[in-house]
Amino acid sequence: MSERKRGRDADVTKARVPQFRMGAMAEGSRFYVTTPIFYVNDVPHIGHAYTEVAADVLARWHRQSGDDTWLLTGTDEHGQKILRTATANGATPQEWADRLVESAWKPLLSTINIANDDFIRTTEPRHENNVQRFLTTLYDKGFIYTGEYEGAYCVGCEEYKQAADLIAGTGDDEGQQVCAIHSKPVEILHEKNYFFRMSDFTQPLLDLYEANPDFIQPESARNEVVAFVRQGLEDLSISRSTFDWGIKLPWDDTHVVYVWFDALLNYITAIGYGDDQATFDRRWPALHIVGKDILRFHAVIWPAMLLAAGLPVPAGIFGHGWLLVGGEKMSKSKLTGIAPNEITDTFGSDAFRYYFTSAITFGQDGSFSWEDLSARYESELANGFGNLASRSLAMITRYFDGQVPTEGAVTPADAAIHDVVAAAVSQADDAISRVAVHEAVASVWTIVDALNGYITEQEPWALAKDPANADRLSTVLYTCAEGLRALAVLLSPVMPESTQKLWVALGAEAALGELTAQPVRSAGTWGQLPAGTQVGALEPLFPRIESAE
Ligand code: MSP
Repeated sequence: MSERKRGRDADVTKARVPQFRMGAMAEGSRFYVTTPIFYVNDVPHIGHAYTEVAADVLARWHRQSGDDTWLLTGTDEHGQKILRTATANGATPQEWADRLVESAWKPLLSTINIANDDFIRTTEPRHENNVQRFLTTLYDKGFIYTGEYEGAYCVGCEEYKQAADLIAGTGDDEGQQVCAIHSKPVEILHEKNYFFRMSDFTQPLLDLYEANPDFIQPESARNEVVAFVRQGLEDLSISRSTFDWGIKLPWDDTHVVYVWFDALLNYITAIGYGDDQATFDRRWPALHIVGKDILRFHAVIWPAMLLAAGLPVPAGIFGHGWLLVGGEKMSKSKLTGIAPNEITDTFGSDAFRYYFTSAITFGQDGSFSWEDLSARYESELANGFGNLASRSLAMITRYFDGQVPTEGAVTPADAAIHDVVAAAVSQADDAISRVAVHEAVASVWTIVDALNGYITEQEPWALAKDPANADRLSTVLYTCAEGLRALAVLLSPVMPESTQKLWVALGAEAALGELTAQPVRSAGTWGQLPAGTQVGALEPLFPRIESAE
């Protein structure tokens, strides 16, 4: 970098460091969650879908808890990577982006049943205009200067790399330095650029991390970022002049904005920054769900940008792990990508959502395998949850003419189920507030396991043989029906389709109203499903799959 810090008003960098806690959001009434915006150079694979599902489960949980919820997703359309792909395919970058958004990225949302509130594209005027507005603010505040940069650039990451980020290439790339993430050679760029004085924010960021221990999660992600920032931050090149696919700098139209600087701003341009202050104030700050490969952009560059502009920092950043195939990050460029519909066509979107939120600890890497998916589908969904629902409803139909029976005297075994349900609700809600999605699903699943054990022990089919046991049979099947009521409510954020079928079959829609209107946080209050509710037929929620590979 040719030019370093110039003297400036030191007060500007002592920007406000608001106190946010990720966990605190669960008690509040507002929840804004984002996914990364996806590069449109290629079609989605299950790694992308994984991020979407996790954010959607969090959003649905909060929405169903009555919180003022907003889920944002979208696409990242500028930069050299998109330009090159478009050119290689004989299209303009805008044509290419339009094609990929309509044919691949928007359809992904219905494939995996994402209930997003908005979809932002970085080529929209609401974004482009307000990126320029943001840059003008930083420029006017003296946070931007001109300089020169020479460095190793990875187009896959759209990032200048440090020596520590590079490894020796093998095969065709023998003798070259390659990006550790993409295994592709880096390019040495030498450009005159505009720089953002990010180095000014080393201490403010360390203070922010210190004052808000939950700001970056999980712990491993936080430690990595803190160690990185402690080494001292360098100023950041924020413009490119050798190509023009991007947003022009307001004061120099021979430069376009660096694609990450442009992309990060989507989180505020989508909620009215620059145009609609009331909406911005209502939504911001957000919890950002990101893959660990893009953690530093979100936990370092992004809050530094916001501090420079005098805006509140995000509520939190959660860095999840990678889906691995053969021990490596799944990626299209390495030809290991699996399209989400390869899974949903066979197993359905609910199974997709359940599998990825339950089988992988959110925050750690997880290996995907078809065998594991099939095995869990069979044992947990078909035999565990699906069978619990179908046999309970079948017995209510057979022994009580399809009417939910009355709960009589409660024995310790029944009370134990009430307790499991109540505990599951509070544990799951606590897990959601910590962004521990897998833990929330596991907590709810204790109800499935407890009810299956309860049925085995209580043997309602044996009770039905002797009319003297009629009261007991009635209580046992009420317990099953009411347990299923709670399960439908609690699992609806994870498996919206099958829980809706169950809800209707239980007669709960007629008795209690729409499933998504049932508040999750009070789902543990026992006795909500009225006796006498008419149950209906239930097709298998998770049909057997004959030729699952
Ligand atoms: N465009 C940037 C993000 C800008 S956000 C302001 C980007 N896009 S991406 O399409 O490459 O990746 C989007 C997300 O998908 C990232 O969070 C990334 O970690 C995630 N994943 C891509 N491959 C993945 C796996 N194999 N496993 C899990 N998530 C992965 O980065």
